[in-house]
Amino acid sequence: MPRKIIFDTDPGQDDAVALLLALASPEEVEVLGVTAVAGNVPLDLTAKNARIVCELAGRPDLPVHAGCDAPLARRLVTAENVHGATGLDGIDLRPPAMPLAETHAVDFIIETLRGEPSGSVTLVAVGPLTNIATAFDRAPDTVPRVQEIVIMGGAYFEVGNVTPAAEFNIYVDPEAAKLVFDSGAALTVMPLDVTHKALTSRDWVEGMRALGTRVGEAVASWTDFFERYDKAKYGNLGAPLHDPCAVAWLIRPELFSGKRVNVEIETAGEFTAGMTVADWWGVTGKAANCLFVNEVDRDGLFAMLTERLARLGQKPG
Ligand code: RIB
Ligand code: CA
Repeated sequence: MPRKIIFDTDPGQDDAVALLLALASPEEVEVLGVTAVAGNVPLDLTAKNARIVCELAGRPDLPVHAGCDAPLARRLVTAENVHGATGLDGIDLRPPAMPLAETHAVDFIIETLRGEPSGSVTLVAVGPLTNIATAFDRAPDTVPRVQEIVIMGGAYFEVGNVTPAAEFNIYVDPEAAKLVFDSGAALTVMPLDVTHKALTSRDWVEGMRALGTRVGEAVASWTDFFERYDKAKYGNLGAPLHDPCAVAWLIRPELFSGKRVNVEIETAGEFTAGMTVADWWGVTGKAANCLFVNEVDRDGLFAMLTERLARLGQKPG
């Protein structure tokens, strides 16, 4: 039986690849809906980009809901320096024809969790956690109905990517992250500790282009664009595919490993706001609240990505 998911996202080229992977994997994943949140770029663009990706995947039927346009308690910080002005720089794709769904993303999350059997819906969160935190705050009864939240966010041994201490998704809305990490929901976290090991290679990117499909061309072009940032910053030979790790967990969990630990979210630090303070050695005695993933079979991940993405997209017509 496929996992029923709500895909909460701030596209973002890596978000786009993650959504394509989910839509290419109906055996393991049934996407009930996509919820857009402000993050990499403002909400109007993340809501537009989510629809562009759905149409690229041949799924204009999939409901895309616009959500929160600002963090719970802070001004929005965006990442055009990484993702470009559109959030999907690298290739020009036509604006979406499909409309936004009428329902606000937070209402869709609440209604879906209440409407589906308890424990049957997974939330895949690959942007700031504002939508999910708002849903939990407005409808606490929905928290125990969640099967699992798979979060791309945080960092510990790998340290931060937007400040020395914090990873972007958590940094944008630390108060939302704190509410979610303290909620008691089952959490699987894909921090930079693992996503920085999920680096693309030139061969893989050219393999995407060689698929000869619109999806392959888009993925190759997006990767060419956003890898420039990580290459310049980290001297990497490739780009970290952060968000696809969250979806890949649902498809082939055996590719990953980590440790159940307690993670607190720093919300008050002058220099550490948004830090995921992982008690890796159990020094606090606090109960573990998440699986903190730090290892991936990189070659297995990219082989699976190629096989799945090759399923999508018609030849250029
Ligand atoms: O820090 C990486 C995360 O921030 C990814 O989800 C990327 O899309 C950005 O949202
Ligand atoms: Ca993202």
